[in-house]
Amino acid sequence: MKVSSIGIFGGGRIAQALADGLARMAPDELERVYVSARSPVTLSHWEKWVDRSRLFSPAGNAVLARRCDVLLLSVKPKDLPQLRAEMGEIVPPKLIVSLVAGRSLRFLEELFGCDVSLVRALPNVAVAVGKGLTACAAGPGVEPSSLEWVLGFFGRLGRAILLEERLLDPFTVLAGCGPAYGFLFLSLLTEAGMALGWDDSESRAFAVSLLDGVVGLSEAYPSLGWEEFVQWVRSPEGVTDTVCRQLERGRWRESFLEAIQKGVEKLVQMQKEAGDRRV
Ligand SMILES: NC(=O)c1ccc[n+]([C@@H]2O[C@H](COP(=O)([O-])OP(=O)(O)OC[C@H]3O[C@@H](n4cnc5c(N)ncnc54)[C@H](OP(=O)(O)O)[C@@H]3O)[C@@H](O)[C@H]2O)c1
Repeated sequence: MKVSSIGIFGGGRIAQALADGLARMAPDELERVYVSARSPVTLSHWEKWVDRSRLFSPAGNAVLARRCDVLLLSVKPKDLPQLRAEMGEIVPPKLIVSLVAGRSLRFLEELFGCDVSLVRALPNVAVAVGKGLTACAAGPGVEPSSLEWVLGFFGRLGRAILLEERLLDPFTVLAGCGPAYGFLFLSLLTEAGMALGWDDSESRAFAVSLLDGVVGLSEAYPSLGWEEFVQWVRSPEGVTDTVCRQLERGRWRESFLEAIQKGVEKLVQMQKEAGDRRV
């Protein structure tokens, strides 16, 4: 598929993470990007990536929809109907790529009509540094070359995989929201370091180095299971063992798994409220 212009409808947090990633990993793609957002403040953030002539308010959504080959939807789910109205007639061939979490291909098909090509893509914010994890699911009738383009686009910003659509919701809770869990853990390590007497920036640097080391080890020894890694450090009755036992008494594993399940339930509830039929 030949793409000469990409319209991003909704230049908020995930779209800006994409732009940062493109600037680092694929600056040539930024040349083809057009963006719309509601507030001048949001648009002003884009001036470092895209020249002003390619920035639009919602009043320009119809122009963008006509001009661009790929229409990348990046508004909040609740704003989707309004955006659709502003986009006006969508004349094929267009490829619509929706980043909107929890809105099914069927829902999008009802909104946009079945003669457009629809792909859902769920990236996470690590696309900003070329380490994103993005899952995609394609609607019926999407050309293999269009899907290849989407996987290639997100692949330049990390890892891009194809999933059955029914797996996108669990993926959203695990990997789309996942960076927040990682940062929570970093903040806990930082807090622990501060409680032991280091200042904020030293503790933060320790926390980051620690996780960096853990990721490095997991890459260097891919055949080891997580428990084997833990046992590498956790000698029976030792200090690590004491800390791990205390965590286990606090049911931290169960608590985390329950929390993820709650996230999935929340997404399902939000879909029901929006009248989106389940995948
Ligand atoms: N954040 C993530 O990590 C992540 C990951 C995967 C998927 N997603 C999905 O991506 C979508 C956006 O999430 P976000 O976190 O980036 O939200 P966000 O920061 O609130 O961004 C949404 C953007 O949409 C703009 N907008 C709203 N209505 C518009 C319209 N009619 N025309 C043009 N722009 C409009 C808003 O403009 P103003 O800023 O001017 O109000 C805002 O910049 C959501 O559907 C979410 O489910 C997010």
